[in-house]
Amino acid sequence: MALTTARLRLTELAAADLDAFVDVLAADPTVVAHFRALAGLPDRATRLRVVRAGYFDHFAAVRATWGHVNWAIRRLDGQFIGWCGLHHRGDVDDPAVAPEIGWMLARDWQGRGLMAEAAGAVVADAFARSTAARLNAVVAPANAPSLVLARRLGFTEARRLPAYGAAVMVVLVRTRPDEPKRPTGRRACCR
Ligand SMILES: CC(C)(COP(=O)(O)OP(=O)(O)OC[C@H]1O[C@@H](n2cnc3c(N)ncnc32)[C@H](O)[C@@H]1OP(=O)(O)O)[C@@H](O)C(=O)NCCC(=O)NCCS
Repeated sequence: MALTTARLRLTELAAADLDAFVDVLAADPTVVAHFRALAGLPDRATRLRVVRAGYFDHFAAVRATWGHVNWAIRRLDGQFIGWCGLHHRGDVDDPAVAPEIGWMLARDWQGRGLMAEAAGAVVADAFARSTAARLNAVVAPANAPSLVLARRLGFTEARRLPAYGAAVMVVLVRTRPDEPKRPTGRRACCR
């Protein structure tokens, strides 16, 4: 299963992506600065353990329970450069704040509009494959690039609340695109 955009190929995140996720994303303090569970981990073995349990195992459970997909973001030559997908953490004390979209891009590839491209495809796929009425993004108020990205993707700020151990996080919501309107003047059912 894959999603292809102009510059990227997204494949469903698999166990084989764990090392790259740890080395390219989790090991970079600038990438995980807003991820409390990942920031400041002392060594690679710890990062592997935390990413496997907190991300890969969690994503597998989310896939099995709700059908939401997490994606490895690759350049067209196959190089792993990021992650984007949907999770269902419950860290936000409100069941309405789910599913939640998450994203991380390797530092060298940031600032080129690549995550907007990847996440746009992920959002479209998520609405196509699920009946979710809306998707949520939960972003630290200081995470300017993520706030810009979420708004660019059509998410709008809904509220602020404590989450992930932080006193204030911004919840942005993107509602399901409208269903195509049925033609008027004629009943569409009953025949
Ligand atoms: C958030 C992230 C995925 C964005 O990826 P990206 O491909 O670099 O995003 P884009 O290039 O599409 O857009 C980033 C936008 O933020 C803007 N931006 C970057 N730093 C900014 C700052 N300090 N203040 C305001 N805007 C900023 C960029 O200018 C860009 O907008 P522009 O295209 O209008 O110039 C990437 O920065 C990342 O991986 N961050 C670390 C992980 C993370 O924090 N994830 C989210 C947790 S909620």
